[in-house]
Amino acid sequence: MRILGIETSCDETAAAVVTGEGEILADVVLSQLAEHRPFGGVVPEIAARAHLEHVDRLVAEAMSRAGLGYAQLDAVAATGGPGLIGGVMVGVATGKAIALAAGKPFLAINHLEGHALTARLTHKLAFPYLLLLASGGHCQLLAVLGVGEYRRLGSTIDDAAGEAFDKVAKMLDLGYPGGPAVEKAATSGDPARFALPRPMKGKPNCDFSFSGLKNAVRLLIAALPQPVTRQDAADVAAGFQAAVAESVADRTRRALAEFRTRWPDGTGLVVAGGVAANGALRQALIAEATAAGLPFIAPPLKLCTDNAAMIAWAGVERFRLGLTDGLDFAPRPRWPLDPKAAPLKGAGVKA
Ligand code: KG4
Ligand code: ZN
Repeated sequence: MRILGIETSCDETAAAVVTGEGEILADVVLSQLAEHRPFGGVVPEIAARAHLEHVDRLVAEAMSRAGLGYAQLDAVAATGGPGLIGGVMVGVATGKAIALAAGKPFLAINHLEGHALTARLTHKLAFPYLLLLASGGHCQLLAVLGVGEYRRLGSTIDDAAGEAFDKVAKMLDLGYPGGPAVEKAATSGDPARFALPRPMKGKPNCDFSFSGLKNAVRLLIAALPQPVTRQDAADVAAGFQAAVAESVADRTRRALAEFRTRWPDGTGLVVAGGVAANGALRQALIAEATAAGLPFIAPPLKLCTDNAAMIAWAGVERFRLGLTDGLDFAPRPRWPLDPKAAPLKGAGVKA
């Protein structure tokens, strides 16, 4: 089985071809970082136009690297949501057009399901497992029970973790994207110098919150002598990173306890999303997984951040089960993996 995957839901235009055995025949990603950098964040309209400009070439490149013609594909998968709707429309229209022209089935993939199933592509992991998805747009803890079968144990009630890293980097003038910049600055900082809140720590659920911490950092920076010195910035970065790591570890500990009780045959704690690259956070999560007696699984970074191999692989898993979609599929800006989860209450709730 060979499936073409297309990803255009945020600021990466990507195409990949993956086989039924999980072999990645091609995996090309074009980051739009340079286009968005002047604005310190992703600008939806710029993203949609950039996807439109590059997607055809990326698909052609993936097919040529895989050494395949469209006739040799079994199906075409494209991210159908959630995400920035302009970009999703570009990917879905491209996928449908190729599927129609080549006479192949079309699969609309939930971007989050792509992240959720990646550990099965990279580690052949069996269900059920616990997933922490922490990226620029999402922060969730999900029990992954099967294809299309998810239970949300926790989610952010305001910002995503990556968004908080990006905002703090902006406040400290460290550049964009913020996560790697904050992590780098933190290496020469003292995490204990400033007292910052540990959001949600100890709360009897598994939800996250980052907007209060972000605001505490803003007030802290405003109270420092201006312009902020390198050392002060490093200490703020280290303090913020420690607060995020401790808070996320606390939420994950609760989720692990619930997961172990409800699904005693659980196979591991899996991380995905760009924030999973953070060393301090990883160390904290490894400690939690070990304490819970579960293996810690982190797919290679390239497959943790947005890519099309995960979309093609989710396509493989769904195609095997006969879960194809019609060409009348409408792109979905919002598309929760667990529609039955209780609605979130919070000022900035998005998902
Ligand atoms: O998964 P991703 O590449 O894209 C999506 O958001 O879908 O995640 C990007 C996010 C950005 O907010 C970035 O600042 C954050 O992941 N990030 C990090 C690190 N590397 C990337 N956050 C903390 N530490 C890092 N080393
Ligand atoms: Zn993503």
